[in-house]
Amino acid sequence: MAVLKAFQGKGLGKIILKHGEAALKTKNVKKIWCNAREIAVPFYKKNNYEIGSKPFNIKEIGTHYMMHKTLFYNTL
Ligand SMILES: CC(C)(COP(=O)(O)OP(=O)(O)OC[C@H]1O[C@@H](n2cnc3c(N)ncnc32)[C@H](O)[C@@H]1OP(=O)(O)O)[C@@H](O)C(=O)NCCC(=O)NCCS
Repeated sequence: MAVLKAFQGKGLGKIILKHGEAALKTKNVKKIWCNAREIAVPFYKKNNYEIGSKPFNIKEIGTHYMMHKTLFYNTL
């Protein structure tokens, strides 16, 4: 995901993320994961994602971490 540079830091990334998470919850998805660019790790952490891997390189993009978040727990 990305927000145009001129619009970053205005809360739009958070809105996009929350919208995606809400859509997945309606489909009973319990866990979400992504490959996060190193510079985006603080953004995902702020949105309660945890690092789930060692750093790894994606060619021509750079260092990434797998990050994940539990959307809700199965209480049954
Ligand atoms: C990462 C990205 C999508 C974030 O979108 P954004 O609109 O700038 O982020 P928001 O303004 O919604 O920030 C949401 C929260 O994360 C925090 N945050 C965002 N970027 C941060 C950073 N680099 N370091 C620390 N905190 C950060 C904000 O302070 C905000 O916290 P708050 O809710 O307490 O106010 C955007 O910066 C981007 O497009 N970056 C370039 C592309 C990229 O790296 N995409 C990710 C690929 S995995």
